[in-house]
Amino acid sequence: MIKKSIRNWALVSLTLMFGATLNVHAAGGYNIEFERVNNDVRDKESLQRGAVHFVNYCMACHSAELNRYNRVARDLGWTDDEVIAKLTYNTLTPVDMMVTTMEPGVSEDLFGIQAPDLSLMSRLKGNDYIYTFIRGYYQQEDGSWNNSVLEGTSMPNVLEGVRRHSTEAEFDQFTTDLVNFMDYIGEPSKVQRWDLGWKVIAFLLVLLLLTYLLKKEYWRDIKK
Ligand code: HEC
Repeated sequence: MIKKSIRNWALVSLTLMFGATLNVHAAGGYNIEFERVNNDVRDKESLQRGAVHFVNYCMACHSAELNRYNRVARDLGWTDDEVIAKLTYNTLTPVDMMVTTMEPGVSEDLFGIQAPDLSLMSRLKGNDYIYTFIRGYYQQEDGSWNNSVLEGTSMPNVLEGVRRHSTEAEFDQFTTDLVNFMDYIGEPSKVQRWDLGWKVIAFLLVLLLLTYLLKKEYWRDIKK
């Protein structure tokens, strides 16, 4: 009886665990294939370049307001002074959050919509989505820009100049670094989680062995 309920409980947990993992990767009803970004959140140099691109090209309109500059500094290998110099041109302090300088309401006036906060955008839409979106602008017959991922988007083609002035490989690198940084801000402790995860599993396996041996010891004389 007890054994059966333990087994059922284990089955339910397993289903939930794997079900959750699968859901994360299910693409949600888009008509186009996303480009694959292949970024690496362990690559600090890429993250540093991405952070600089992000403040220069995205933060005019977007915030990443769940992130604090000194945390970014610590994770990306900068000192507090460096992060403030490189990302805010010495206008803010290390404990400030990454908030756009655009006044509230201006985005609605200019674009008809509030530019969304980008802190969790990589978690919400996925890295490949963002990569394809920022690279997905194309010129229509009348010369105006449209986007193959988000048709009729009110976000201007802000990387037009970068694309025009760089080679294909440079633009790939630029956008990969940018998305890498957005992946990082979506979960700043991801690398620590990965590094800690296998240690936790190893510990639990050792504990399982010890607990099993202990159980055998307790039941030794009681068994028929
Ligand atoms: C000039 C202002 C402006 C700048 C600069 C800007 N964006 Fe946007 N962005 C917007 C607006 C407005 C929207 C809302 C678009 C919509 O819903 O059509 C948006 C939406 C987005 C979205 C959400 C798209 C979606 O599927 O809902 C992402 C991702 C994004 N921007 C990324 C970026 C990145 C990365 C940069 C820097 C390279 C950037 N943006 C720079 C104005 C801007």
